Amino acid sequence: MQPLESAWTLPPAAYLRDDIYALELERIFRRSWLAVARLDQIPEPGDFLTLDLVGQPVMVVHGVDGEVRVMSGVCLHRAALLAEGTGRRKLFTCPYHSWAYDTTGALAAAPLMEGAEGFEPGACRLPQIRAEVWEGFVMANLDPEAAPFAPQVEGLRAAFANYDLAGMVVARTLTYESGWNWKVLVENFMEAYHHIGPHAQTFEPVFHARDSSVPDADGPWSILRMPPAEPHASPDALVQGLDPSQQGALFAAVAYPHLMFAPHDNGMAWYQLFPSSAGRLTLKVHVCLPGHARALDDYEAIADAAAAFTDHIHREDIAANDLVWRGLTAPMTRQGRLSPLERAIWQMNQWWLGAMTAPR
Ligand code: FES
Ligand SMILES: [Fe+2]
Repeated sequence: MQPLESAWTLPPAAYLRDDIYALELERIFRRSWLAVARLDQIPEPGDFLTLDLVGQPVMVVHGVDGEVRVMSGVCLHRAALLAEGTGRRKLFTCPYHSWAYDTTGALAAAPLMEGAEGFEPGACRLPQIRAEVWEGFVMANLDPEAAPFAPQVEGLRAAFANYDLAGMVVARTLTYESGWNWKVLVENFMEAYHHIGPHAQTFEPVFHARDSSVPDADGPWSILRMPPAEPHASPDALVQGLDPSQQGALFAAVAYPHLMFAPHDNGMAWYQLFPSSAGRLTLKVHVCLPGHARALDDYEAIADAAAAFTDHIHREDIAANDLVWRGLTAPMTRQGRLSPLERAIWQMNQWWLGAMTAPR
């Protein structure tokens, strides 16, 4: 990998080729820590949500014993999906033949199975997936051998310790279907250079592209710092206790491959990415506010305004990413030079190359 000063983008094939995407599934997405939920989305015992984790249906369940677990959402009988969407249950009863699982994934009942020799319902349990709660995020890893998440991102945690990320709650969720490679989205999230383009009327006047910076990282993560054009104290901000260098600033943090969150002094946007093929993804943007804001009279109005602003900005990004995707798929397209302002992309590219080429 070249030093940043002489670095290039990844080649178009890294975004386009189905075989490279298949390798990413195997070497990156099925071995990395992925954000599956916020704890506040399943606050009560029995609460659950479901999602497709790069091809594996999973249930994130707040057990009646208080433990949060991530487990396969596929019935052990003939593989029907046990649940979809969200809800609150003490038992997950399969819609096909009514096998019922408790909130730990143990099989609690299997009707009309008398006579099935050696079948012991008590020994059956839905496959469990490694999970860790980090700063309110429920992180999951399909690799049972994966190194724990928290130690890898200690520097990232420390950088935002003042924000009480664990105390933030999802106030609104916006969903987008897009026809690009997942890295197009993550790279767009990681640089503020493009403020002078798609966000010329919105972000650029408040967060100048030229002022953005990316600190060194000692793990698989990046932070983009966007200081305010006019530094100011934020006496009315919903997040209090920030350093002067944090007040009024916007950050874009990524724990590779795709935990993306953007803290600022009124909350945080969490970009939850679900890649489905080399050229398709679903994105959920969760607009998060500090939990104490729920007590405010105008909480709903604050949440609506934050969601409307986030949607406006993301539509500016969608337009840019659409242009990038049309260009990336063209036969004459080659690698391009990176700007020093794109340091976070360079950081992630090095991680990506290492993960894709490591012997294992
Ligand atoms: S597939 Fe679930 S009970 Fe038969
Ligand atoms: Fe943007």
